[in-house]
Amino acid sequence: MNVFSGIRPSGDLHIGNYFGAMRQWIELQNKYNCLFCIVDLHAITTPYEPKDLQKNILETAIAYLAAGLDPEKCVLFVQSDVKEHCELAWLLGTITPLGDLKRMTQFKEKSKKYPQYLNAGLLNYPVLMAADILLYQTTLVPVGKDQVQHIELTREIARRFNKTFGNAFKEPKALLSQGQKIMSLDEPRKKMSKTGSPKGYIGLFEEPSKIRKKIMSAVTDSGKTIKYDPKRKPGISNLLVIYSLVSGKDIKVLERELKGKGYRQLKKNLASLLIDFLSPFRRKHKEFLTRQVYVKEILKRGARRARLQAQSTIKRVKTKMGLM
Ligand code: TYM
Repeated sequence: MNVFSGIRPSGDLHIGNYFGAMRQWIELQNKYNCLFCIVDLHAITTPYEPKDLQKNILETAIAYLAAGLDPEKCVLFVQSDVKEHCELAWLLGTITPLGDLKRMTQFKEKSKKYPQYLNAGLLNYPVLMAADILLYQTTLVPVGKDQVQHIELTREIARRFNKTFGNAFKEPKALLSQGQKIMSLDEPRKKMSKTGSPKGYIGLFEEPSKIRKKIMSAVTDSGKTIKYDPKRKPGISNLLVIYSLVSGKDIKVLERELKGKGYRQLKKNLASLLIDFLSPFRRKHKEFLTRQVYVKEILKRGARRARLQAQSTIKRVKTKMGLM
């Protein structure tokens, strides 16, 4: 079974990325043929600084390693190092209905957020994502909830191709985790995001004093009861989800344990737990920062391995489409 997933190198990785996606990757690498990609070509569809991109790619690679991905067990690489991603995206674009792309939630949100930057790349974003996934005959895609719509579209594209030109692709499925949607700390009705306000997210390598400050000032709700109720108590519910993920305890158990305690106590406990939980991440991050040549070598080797798998799919697809 093949597994593929990726993250855009467009800012600090946060606990949403970790609990939504990466935590599953660490487990999956022990069981399946896994490829984890740094999707730089997706990162350039919204405003970015070209001079920072290489640094951000390296930072993301270091985050992958510090979080526990092992280059002996999985393939780690940069999307633009394997040109077959673009080639397949073009080919798949010719069978993707325009209407499907226009109704994608992420396209609608991003085009509202960056009206001056509305480019065809943003519209075609899900086609490139489908190419990423289908290029490796992927069956499982471990992601957060916000990416499920794109994976549904990928399935449809695969189905349409197989029906029109003959079988070339497996139909992939999204794999969601308990942390599938971590909300922002300062706006708990919105998801935690790399490009949102820094107060809203906890970076994977954030210093303890900052973690404590951010958790203590997280937006909560009026009232006193510590109860999981995302509709009426989005702030407290989000803190309970994070608490449950770091402690390994069920939310119901936490509600019982924290009964009669105030929000402040909940936040104090959670801040300490998170600081401890992220301590090995900070340590490994510092260590990999001093080994950049090694990290770059891992990415180069990863691209070589990915290319071999990608080329065989491209050959099959081009033959079926009459291009070879
Ligand atoms: P990106 O870079 O926005 O996010 C990377 C991963 O983190 C998950 N995630 C979250 N999970 C829970 N709570 C949150 N607040 C949260 N924020 C982010 C995302 O769901 C994602 O799994 N389009 C993708 C990257 C991509 C990709 C792919 C993924 C490109 N090609 C192929 C899978 C397969 C994206 O922008 O993720």
